[in-house]
Amino acid sequence: MDFLLFVLESSFFAFNTLRGYAMNYAIVLAAGKGSRMHRKEPKGMIPILGKPMISYIIDTIFKTCLQHTICVLGKNKEQFQLPSWVEIAVQEQPLGTADAVRAALEKMEDKKGYTLIIPGDTPFLTEGTINALLQEHEKSKNLLTIGTIRLSSPYGYGRVVHEKEGTLRIVEEKDATKEERLIEEVYSGVMCINTQVLFDVISKIQNQNAQKEYYITDSVSLVSKMGAVGCYTIEDVFEAKGFNELKELTKAQKEYQSRIFNRLMEKGIFLENPDTITIGPDVVFLGPATIHQGTILLGKTTVYEGAILGPYSEIVDSTIYENVQVRHSVITNSIVQNNTTIGPFAHLRNQASIGENNRIGNFVEIKNSTTGNKTYASHLSYIGDTRCGAGVNFGCGTITVNYDGKQKHSTKIGNNVFIGCNSNLIAPIEIGSNSYIAAGSTIVESIEEGNFTIARAPQTTKSGYAKKYGYGRVKD
Ligand code: UD1
Ligand code: CA
Repeated sequence: MDFLLFVLESSFFAFNTLRGYAMNYAIVLAAGKGSRMHRKEPKGMIPILGKPMISYIIDTIFKTCLQHTICVLGKNKEQFQLPSWVEIAVQEQPLGTADAVRAALEKMEDKKGYTLIIPGDTPFLTEGTINALLQEHEKSKNLLTIGTIRLSSPYGYGRVVHEKEGTLRIVEEKDATKEERLIEEVYSGVMCINTQVLFDVISKIQNQNAQKEYYITDSVSLVSKMGAVGCYTIEDVFEAKGFNELKELTKAQKEYQSRIFNRLMEKGIFLENPDTITIGPDVVFLGPATIHQGTILLGKTTVYEGAILGPYSEIVDSTIYENVQVRHSVITNSIVQNNTTIGPFAHLRNQASIGENNRIGNFVEIKNSTTGNKTYASHLSYIGDTRCGAGVNFGCGTITVNYDGKQKHSTKIGNNVFIGCNSNLIAPIEIGSNSYIAAGSTIVESIEEGNFTIARAPQTTKSGYAKKYGYGRVKD
């Protein structure tokens, strides 16, 4: 997928370059220490509803008209996971946002278009807002357009100062005077600047300020002296929130979640006790469904019409087809086809692919295995590395023994196989269609189609012998 995107993007660039169009860039700043978060992972990798903060921004940029994205990372760059179409620039020391931009400029050749600069800690900005800012920039013919918000408590943000002579500047919290701190119009962290202008001003930015950092916000006063600088007001303040501390993030996550819920409820998704439910931003519903309490749906999960999920289930990166019911279960990286019931207490993982009308019940774990339609594993089974047909009955306690202590081996099971309770199928092994395995068997050799196999020690019964062990007589 990433490769396909890369090919598409590359040909798009080549086409644009041939036609003489300008390349427009996005620079994502994510090389800061994020020390106010007090976490080990970089700020950009902190998950919000299961998705790293940086991925929100990258996915949003992907939906805009910007052709080339450069993400500036610091020393901890290995800890980031970014799609291959994002170019990485490295800022060795976090000397400030302007220094981070400088690192990105080294990767940029085309100076004809404009560049969007966006911080890596503003995850909820939408493509609608970014496109509107870019359009405003183009329409107004500004050299620089800054995204601003109005906050009654502007603490921590750069304040936008409109000077008497009509020029603009941004003053950071730590450098602001008492009066400037009262300004409610603040810089959102997002700006669009003509690329040539950016190249011209970047070297002029000094670090003579309270933090001894190179501030990209200083470009505003510098450009303001060269030509038009405009403000684009972002109406939805929530979108433009930047997160420096976990407590702000935790609070905002709740608001973001309730926005997702509102959207879902309009599509007929019934949420029972929403305060106990978590649904990530990339979960897609293809029709009305019901989510019971205590249920977590994350990652690239798709849910079809009529699904009833929960209570108390966790479903990540999986596809749940029509009318599937999942109770008290965990499903990761798996697919469940129509009308199948999962749980209570089942675990599907590593590309488990469950057919239609299956019943996967109590304490059943299925890993990297497929089942055909109408297959049942109702109680206490482990099914691993198995290709299983339709109409198979896994008796209670059946185990596909796939690991010999060194290697994993696979099992193949045909259609309409009956596996009696407490059987072990020692892999690698093949069980032919329409065969029958007696309960308690340990199967070490493959079974051909239509056979009956019993592999257990014969029973010995010794008449009246129990009293030898102190049993077999009626106690007083
Ligand atoms: C910044 C702005 C502030 C604005 C606010 C909006 C500056 C100087 N200030 O402040 O005006 O109101 O965002 O949220 O730009 N980064 C680097 N390298 C560095 C320093 C930072 O890549 O050397 C990255 C950070 O990882 C972060 C982003 O730049 O993603 C912003 O840095 P941060 O320190 O959070 O800036 P703020 O103090 O929030
Ligand atoms: Ca910030």
